[in-house]
Amino acid sequence: MKINTATFVISNSDINKCPSEKLPEYAFIGRSNVGKSSLINMLTDHKGLAKISNKPGKTQLINHFIINKVWFLVDLPGYGYAKVSKKARSKFQGIIHDYFNKRLQLVCTFVLIDSRHKPQKIDLEFMQFLGENNIPFSIIFTKIDKLAKTKVAKNIKAYVQGMLAFWETMPPYFISSSVDKTGKNEILEYIETVNSDLK
Ligand code: GTP
Ligand code: MG
Repeated sequence: MKINTATFVISNSDINKCPSEKLPEYAFIGRSNVGKSSLINMLTDHKGLAKISNKPGKTQLINHFIINKVWFLVDLPGYGYAKVSKKARSKFQGIIHDYFNKRLQLVCTFVLIDSRHKPQKIDLEFMQFLGENNIPFSIIFTKIDKLAKTKVAKNIKAYVQGMLAFWETMPPYFISSSVDKTGKNEILEYIETVNSDLK
């Protein structure tokens, strides 16, 4: 899929003020600092579209971007980073849960996981929350440029095994690097397929 236009629409902490258009929506979620905002910029080829930082807790609001005028990408605050204050964490958690519980336009959620790490309780619990609420999701393993290829394959194999202890099947998953653009075509093709299945 070619991205012709990618435009920021609105940021807010109130689900009721999110865009009212009934367009399909794809959300990016995961631990703070996992690379959600960077991935949005990489996918859209727009460097400064979503705000990024090496300091966790950069994205603090629900951010809507409209793509090709027909679907939304949504950048969300991250969850669970120890260095983010307790108060900020619980505020983000409130925003995130409200968004996932109420946003009817949401057709697919991408849960981002740092490819360098072993399965973390907080991510497994978040995916469990999505499952319990019948919210479909896919996984994107991020920052693969930071690892040797063999290590990426090894870590993902271990992650899949970890997931299969909780889930009957593994959800669709992708590998990505916002530095060398790995995964760009695969993720955009996937979104295109979901969009056309909705028609
Ligand atoms: P919050 O908004 O704080 O929840 O973080 P986020 O998940 O949006 O992460 P963000 O995109 O701001 O990136 C966090 C840090 O990781 C930044 O310093 C990025 O440059 C870096 N980063 C993100 N993706 C990649 C990647 O694929 N490879 C490498 N090497 N660094 C990355
Ligand atoms: Mg962010």
